Amino acid sequence: MAIEIIGTGKAIPQKRVTNDDLATRIDTSDEWIRSHTGIASRYIADENTACSDLAAEAAKNALAMVAGYTGQDSAERDRAAAQTALSIDLIVIATVTADYFGTPSTACVVQHKIGAVNAAAMDISAACTGFVYGLETAAGLLSVSSKRKRALVLGSEILTKMADWNDRGTCVLFGDGAGAVVLEKTDNSKSGLLQTLLFADGSGYESLIERRGGTRNPFKAGETLEKSIVIEMNGQEVYNFAVKAVTDTINALIKEGGINIDEIARIVPHQANARIVQAAAKRLRIPLEKFYLNIEEYANTSSASIPIALDEMNRKGLLKKGDLILTVGFGGGLTYGGNIIIW
Ligand code: ACO
Repeated sequence: MAIEIIGTGKAIPQKRVTNDDLATRIDTSDEWIRSHTGIASRYIADENTACSDLAAEAAKNALAMVAGYTGQDSAERDRAAAQTALSIDLIVIATVTADYFGTPSTACVVQHKIGAVNAAAMDISAACTGFVYGLETAAGLLSVSSKRKRALVLGSEILTKMADWNDRGTCVLFGDGAGAVVLEKTDNSKSGLLQTLLFADGSGYESLIERRGGTRNPFKAGETLEKSIVIEMNGQEVYNFAVKAVTDTINALIKEGGINIDEIARIVPHQANARIVQAAAKRLRIPLEKFYLNIEEYANTSSASIPIALDEMNRKGLLKKGDLILTVGFGGGLTYGGNIIIW
């Protein structure tokens, strides 16, 4: 038995905001952002767009691909996607920017939007490692039941609504977007998800945190808010953790998977900061070209960054059947981990 990726999709908001655009509103510069992060632009969702809207679009693109449609006509795409949606048994969405606080899950909203009426639906909260966790969760749930054959796994984020636009150290990092894959359980054992490693270090839970709104610190009736719920980050702490997390995860995947660095076609890291990837590549003595980077265009889209990259690579023809692909995620929690996939 194998769990294969049979379709990919992404959704990116229309509004592209460059570093220069940001510099007209906050005290920053294109030079600072590029040199410290590798980011040149990000896409920002409009006021009416929520996490499930981007997720549903990414899902439809992935579902349509499974039905053989990869064109630009939205009516054709929706028809193709609707067919495949009925065959989905499970939807797993990784997000830290859900439509609603607590309940309902964003996955339930997406199930409704795409018409996947036969699918169970759940969200995963593992920040930027969410998609890596989501793949393993979905693969596990497909494996344990003969009744489940296909799963839709997504990372979807509207981080710009949770960014503190008065904190130039964090707001310049984030962008919005969603990525999706369709997983299928098959008898073909030559390709698919080979191995996943998942880690967490809860001692760092305050390094990336939204302090307000939860049961630790709920809003009270009549309270006047000084600021909305925002992501607070200790940048240096996260940076140091991230370089170690990427290095350790890749080393562990190589060891556990019994593979050699030369056998890996591409490494798809979470796109948080190009400097994190450069530092890890140097430590690992892996050529930087093996790492797929698109952070320049999209900035950090948290759980969406890996599936967005996979879809981009897939549609550009950069992924060949049989290629060995490593994903590596790291983020709030603190969480980290990676997948080995034979494409
Ligand atoms: N523009 C101009 N100057 C800035 C900006 C900005 N946008 N942001 C910070 N600065 C200034 C600071 O004020 C400081 O100035 P000072 O020396 O006069 O005090 C100077 O730049 C250096 O600031 P640092 O915070 O020390 O900058 P650093 O080199 O550490 O880079 C960064 C900051 C990019 C945030 C880095 O720490 C980093 O990438 N951390 C990891 C972030 C990450 O990976 N997050 C992933 C998880 S996100 C998630 O899970 C949702």
